[in-house]
Amino acid sequence: MATTSSSSGDNEASKIKKQCLGWIEWFRGWFCLIYEMLFQRIMASHLHNPMPLPPINDLTCIVTGSTSGIGLEIARQLAQAGAHVVMAVRNTKAAQELIQKWSVDSAGLGIALNVEVMGVDLLSLDSVARFAEAWNARSAPLHVLINNAGIFSIGEPQKFSKDGYEEHLQVNHLAPALLSVLLLPSLIRGSPSRIVNVNSIMHHVGFVDAEDMNITSGKRKFSSLMGYSNSKLAQVMFSSVLNKRLPAESGINVLCVSPGIVQTNVARDLPKIVQSTYRLVPYFIFNAQEGSRSTLFAATDPQISEYCELLKADEWPVCAFISQECRPANPSEEAHNIQTAYEVWEKTLEMTGLPSDALEKLLEGENVKCRYGHEQQ
Ligand SMILES: NC(=O)c1ccc[n+]([C@@H]2O[C@H](COP(=O)([O-])OP(=O)(O)OC[C@H]3O[C@@H](n4cnc5c(N)ncnc54)[C@H](OP(=O)(O)O)[C@@H]3O)[C@@H](O)[C@H]2O)c1
Repeated sequence: MATTSSSSGDNEASKIKKQCLGWIEWFRGWFCLIYEMLFQRIMASHLHNPMPLPPINDLTCIVTGSTSGIGLEIARQLAQAGAHVVMAVRNTKAAQELIQKWSVDSAGLGIALNVEVMGVDLLSLDSVARFAEAWNARSAPLHVLINNAGIFSIGEPQKFSKDGYEEHLQVNHLAPALLSVLLLPSLIRGSPSRIVNVNSIMHHVGFVDAEDMNITSGKRKFSSLMGYSNSKLAQVMFSSVLNKRLPAESGINVLCVSPGIVQTNVARDLPKIVQSTYRLVPYFIFNAQEGSRSTLFAATDPQISEYCELLKADEWPVCAFISQECRPANPSEEAHNIQTAYEVWEKTLEMTGLPSDALEKLLEGENVKCRYGHEQQ
């Protein structure tokens, strides 16, 4: 009798949906963040700066948000190492100016750059869908998609895109997810290929309620920290399911990376006084070149495919996560929550206007239309 009531009690308990991180997970998350901030330089002391890259002349790489910070460094170094780089940016003029500058720098070294610019605004899912359509129309292979662009509107009130989604969620998760799915035909053409998501150690303090990804239910009070960390956790969860659902034969691997704590324009919304303090601690904080190393490693290291395939064969619940010191790391405990990850997957497809069988159709070579991308510019 006692056993029956306790097991039914357990069932009841398992039915109660987790509403937030447990305090141990929350404490562990903040510990990881502070530890990374204090010791990242020591942990990454074995890495060269800039990071030497293997031969990549045959690679075509799309880098989002490559006009500033980490993305700028990623695009510059890939281009100077010989890759064909597509700068997917919202400020196309700034990107053209950067190419001119890099070309002058490289001409002295006898290197001809192969870089081009394509416009995309991640705050508009129409723009994302149009970008993917334009790229796929070339019928060219894509070897590496680097979802780097991101925002952290520190201290700002909750804002929504014209698509109706909370801005951190849209720029850091929904738009890169849509781009990744829509570009699959080109990634299949470029196979073996990779999707590298520039994530963050801050996903450790994130919590995603798939029923309330937009944080509008009123159950939780929005803060920019919550918006940012939740969007990064949603990205790890979506990437894990995408990676799992892509069969090994597709040759496409999906990874997330942590760039470390990096001095970039990401803190542009901080009060000036805090920004000055932030610049006063260069010993602890990476510069953009140092912050680009884990992504460059994930995008180009030949052993990455083998590692990802091993995780896939082991049915590991999460995708590969590369730390700021270019080593395999474990994402947060919450990222291993398979049930939520599948809910995030389904909800993301719904929010981005993709059919629930989009992946299967694309893998079979069929055309997939999403709800976005038909509006005229
Ligand atoms: N810095 C850090 O400590 C840190 C730590 C962990 C993770 N990260 C991640 O690293 C990535 C790069 O950030 P960062 O530090 O290099 O910041 P950043 O200097 O602010 O660069 C962000 C880039 O994203 C672009 N972007 C922002 N909103 C966009 C939109 N709606 N459409 C298209 N592009 C957009 C920006 O374009 P504009 O120049 O036009 O604004 C910029 O090129 C982000 O995903 C961030 O979350 C950074």
